[in-house]
Amino acid sequence: MAIVDKYAPIGVFDSGIGGLTVAREIMRQIPNEKIIYFGDTARTPYGSKSKETVTRFSRQIVRFLQTHDVKAIVVACNTASAYALEELEKEIDIPIIGVVKPGTKAALSATKNGKIGVIATAATIGSQIYTKYIKESAEDDIVYGKACPLFVPLIEEGLWEDPVTDEIARRYLTELIDLDIDTLILGCTHYPLIRKALGRIMGPEVTLVNPAYETAIELKALLGEKGLLNDKAPTLGENQYRFYVSDMADKFKVFANSIIKYGILSAKTVNIEDY
Ligand code: DGL
Repeated sequence: MAIVDKYAPIGVFDSGIGGLTVAREIMRQIPNEKIIYFGDTARTPYGSKSKETVTRFSRQIVRFLQTHDVKAIVVACNTASAYALEELEKEIDIPIIGVVKPGTKAALSATKNGKIGVIATAATIGSQIYTKYIKESAEDDIVYGKACPLFVPLIEEGLWEDPVTDEIARRYLTELIDLDIDTLILGCTHYPLIRKALGRIMGPEVTLVNPAYETAIELKALLGEKGLLNDKAPTLGENQYRFYVSDMADKFKVFANSIIKYGILSAKTVNIEDY
């Protein structure tokens, strides 16, 4: 393991904007930490791409983040966690975590009837990763996966509270309601942004699990274990959070500012194919 500076930033990446829901949770739970965020806005979505492609993209982003001497990396994308994390873990010598395992853990502690639904991109559902991790801990639990490919474009269009989103959500979720699930994992980092609509449709009996929350808890524990928690509060004017994208920095900036309420954020464009 390389010698790592506990005051170094944490690298967080996603295919685009979804990972901001994870970054936001890290900001809330470990407010001393600095973050370098990368959103692959030029090549999003990942959810309809192959494992090989998502792994190649993820490797490039990890290389980019390492040029910023990050002390740890959070794969803030379910699709990249499902497809690339295992490979990345073998290739780097700093701590790296994804969102799938923490999401699984939270769902396992929430369910009472052992019937868990997962909504995510086609890639994440196709990988069966949530089923695999849940079954490793609770063999008898039943996992129902449902790909919801229209949610990401609806969310990116800003239709978080809109009858169109409610209608699409009803179509996707009715079969999960009929299967009597009591826990629903929001297995795509965009979905917490339509949590209210999802809650309305699933009803109060179903616990919605946002893996971002548990990911921040696990990240904090992992950094603590490795002596890497930043114990210094940020100084005034310090550029604590830095955002990079592969395209459309201005659009990203507007979106990021609507999700993260920690002051005006700016974003820079990077040619990620160079890494
Ligand atoms: N952020 C991605 C995820 O969590 C969804 C968006 C995409 O398909 O790239 O899976």
